[in-house]
Amino acid sequence: MRLKIFFASLLSLALALSLTSCEGDQGPIGPAGPTGPTGPTGPAGETGEGVQNCKDCHGSNQLITAKLFQWENSVHATGGNYERNQASCAICHTSQGFLEVAGTGATSAGADVENPLPQNCYTCHMIHQTYTDADWALTTSDPVTFWVKGDMADLGNSNLCLNCHQARIPSPEVPEPGVTGMASVTSSRYGPHHGAQGMMFTGSAGYEVPGDESYANGAHTNLVQNACITCHMAEVSGGRDAGGHTFRVASEGGDLNTNGCIQCHTDAGELETLVEETQTEVADLLLQLGTRLNELGILRDDLELANASSSAPLELTNVQLGALWNYQYVREDKSLGVHNGKYAKALLKNSLAALN
Ligand code: HEC
Ligand code: HEC
Ligand code: HEC
Ligand code: HEC
Ligand code: HEC
Ligand code: HEC
Repeated sequence: MRLKIFFASLLSLALALSLTSCEGDQGPIGPAGPTGPTGPTGPAGETGEGVQNCKDCHGSNQLITAKLFQWENSVHATGGNYERNQASCAICHTSQGFLEVAGTGATSAGADVENPLPQNCYTCHMIHQTYTDADWALTTSDPVTFWVKGDMADLGNSNLCLNCHQARIPSPEVPEPGVTGMASVTSSRYGPHHGAQGMMFTGSAGYEVPGDESYANGAHTNLVQNACITCHMAEVSGGRDAGGHTFRVASEGGDLNTNGCIQCHTDAGELETLVEETQTEVADLLLQLGTRLNELGILRDDLELANASSSAPLELTNVQLGALWNYQYVREDKSLGVHNGKYAKALLKNSLAALN
């Protein structure tokens, strides 16, 4: 700007001088003119990216802090089993293993996971992928095809949970109902492993031995729109006892968080009775079936482990094997009939009848 003014003054000076050129010699060049005024302010620069977006999440709204506070009280954070970092366990028990296979249906990671982490923000959300709000998106919400029996389930965002809360493939496999045969069990831990909830909720992968009870699903399977999330991530009760990112439907002390239930079960007293009756009935059926399997020498006295080892295998008929599977399946679901009472009761009752 200043330069322009400077040259403009030079030009007008030269012009003035040239007009008078016919009258004798050109005089000496005059002094430079005064500095011109400052030009107008330029347009504002583009908004800085990074930091503005960082504040969406790391700002004063304490969004992360609240969820962290809840998550720290979840079994995902406190369970301690993230040290199960062998390739075949790490896909559910470690964050890194899960992210390696999420949504692919693979039953093992490529290798054991070093520096294993439990299920945390990065496991379930796309944290720091774009550094915008879009990073709250879930790492996967694709429908899941269960490893056992191959049924497909689609529970929307709760598909995320199904990836891990499903049974591992047992050996021998769960027999087809109606097919006769024998099978050899070589592990005391025969069963679905520990997270059978996704299959139970959708009424999949039981040994559906024919009997008086039909294998229909309970009301929750089709009615509860957001499935697991509706009940286990309902509005928090108290600070972080249950609900939200504690993933608990009941507090550690056993108090049910009914915030996810009341949209349908409007009477709290009735709901309490319904839960108690359902859980008592299923626990009683489990005890009956467990006792029967124990009498047959299939289950140990603790009614938890099978009476089998690689040196002393159990030779079972398909019906016995299926009944053992059903027992462990309903036991490991842990909801005692709340997830899918109709299906759980049918599996237990028909198994008992088939063994007698
Ligand atoms: C979508 C929300 C979101 C955005 C946007 C975001 N972060 Fe984060 N950030 C998180 C979460 C969630 C964590 C994990 C919190 C925890 O475990 O303590 C985290 C953790 C961190 C950490 C702790 C170290 C680590 O990696 O765990 C740093 C540092 C960080 N973020 C910096 C940033 C910066 C810088 C930006 C912007 C360029 C940014 N974040 C944008 C959600 C976000
Ligand atoms: C990456 C795999 C994975 C995902 C995804 C996952 N979980 Fe889990 N969940 C686990 C594992 C493993 C445990 C046991 C943790 C331990 O003992 O260390 C667990 C524990 C739990 C428990 C406590 C169980 C108990 O015995 O007290 C609840 C409840 C639960 N998860 C609910 C959910 C819900 C709801 C979702 C979906 C929003 C979900 N989980 C998603 C792997 C997962
Ligand atoms: C398909 C996902 C998945 C795989 C694979 C898996 N687990 Fe788990 N595991 C879970 C879930 C989910 C839970 C918690 C379920 C619950 O509490 O209801 C769990 C719980 C456990 C527990 C705690 C049991 C208890 O009673 O507290 C142990 C121990 C465990 N798993 C060991 C292993 C080992 C060892 C392997 C590999 C050989 C393995 N898991 C593979 C999903 C898996
Ligand atoms: C086991 C999986 C899991 C883990 C671990 C997890 N989240 Fe979530 N989070 C979810 C699911 C599922 C939803 C969606 C709930 C719904 O649909 O209402 C969600 C929702 C959210 C939301 C609301 C997002 C939105 O779109 O408004 C925030 C914020 C959030 N989580 C933060 C966190 C933070 C911070 C952590 C770590 C401390 C974390 N989450 C850990 C599964 C998880
Ligand atoms: C209708 C509500 C409801 C839905 C939907 C639901 N649950 Fe549950 N879940 C419960 C209740 C109630 C219990 C038993 C709590 C108790 O007795 O302590 C339970 C128990 C569990 C447990 C055992 C640990 C615990 O918290 O007691 C796990 C793990 C679990 N559910 C995971 C899931 C998963 C995964 C899904 C989705 C496939 C799901 N739940 C869907 C209500 C529900
Ligand atoms: C979307 C609606 C809906 C939600 C949400 C819901 N329920 Fe239900 N539930 C029903 C219906 C409908 C029935 C069947 C009618 C009945 O028995 O009252 C039922 C039945 C039950 C049963 C009897 C189970 C059986 O199959 O015999 C129990 C126990 C139960 N609910 C507990 C709960 C709990 C605990 C929650 C919250 C954590 C919950 N429900 C959330 C609609 C719902």
